Amino acid sequence: MALLEIKNLSRSFGGLQAVSDISFSLVEGMIKAVIGPNGAGKTTLFNLICGNIPLSAGTIRFQGQHIERLKSHQIAALGMSRTFQNIKIFPGMTALENVMVGCHTRSRAGFIAAMLRLPQTFREEREIRRRSLELLELVEIPQTADCEAASLSFGQQRAVELARALAAGPSLLLLDEPAAGLNIYETAELARLITKIKELGVTILLVEHDMSLVMDISDEIVVLDFGRKLAEDIPARIQQNRAVIQVYLGDDEDA
Ligand SMILES: Nc1ncnc2c1ncn2[C@@H]1O[C@H](COP(=O)(O)OP(=O)(O)O)[C@@H](O)[C@H]1O
Ligand SMILES: [Mg+2]
Repeated sequence: MALLEIKNLSRSFGGLQAVSDISFSLVEGMIKAVIGPNGAGKTTLFNLICGNIPLSAGTIRFQGQHIERLKSHQIAALGMSRTFQNIKIFPGMTALENVMVGCHTRSRAGFIAAMLRLPQTFREEREIRRRSLELLELVEIPQTADCEAASLSFGQQRAVELARALAAGPSLLLLDEPAAGLNIYETAELARLITKIKELGVTILLVEHDMSLVMDISDEIVVLDFGRKLAEDIPARIQQNRAVIQVYLGDDEDA
């Protein structure tokens, strides 16, 4: 069954068609990558799927349910998490606290109650702390738990972000350029982490510029160009696709 099914999705900004009549689906358990030159519409596509911006036309179904009219927090509650192109962690908080924020988005007492330290939240707070540490172990940086997030390397900050996105227990994880700003060693680590997350049963939709990362870990690739879907195939065939080579590598070699 398709976990995510996008049909004829469009979004324009004024006269500009940022996303134009795009359809594809994402089968449970796979890693699908969305690639394309700068301005192709990748981030806009993510924002549409997550409900961060309204669509102009089309439908989006998640776990069989129409979500195109839902608000972003409602979509998140159904089991969809995302990370952002620019790392969005709280720099003054510790790595552990950053992950705990992700847990609170789903906890009963909620984030505000936890911040106010209401008595009924104490037990839940302990449980969240334990779970958050487990997640830091999963992304292989448990030693950073008490470090201020701003003091961590880029690679570690990405890992914190991943752990926080996983804290809500998503069935679908959307990653917007997770390798941006990482060196080759950190990128290799990230590839391993993403594959590990997939093996835990989380389906992944990935926007990424780093072609070796995309080719290494993706099961399927969608190529966008000027808001349109140019191709959709397995990595080996995308690499051979003339139109893709011309459009994508033509003006994006230095990205
Ligand atoms: N909020 C916005 N207002 C106006 N134009 C936008 C907005 N967001 C994106 N765009 C435009 O839509 C196109 C696609 O952008 P984007 O989705 O960010 O591409 P990508 O992530 O593939 O680089 C670009 O031409 C961009 O300038
Ligand atoms: Mg983008």
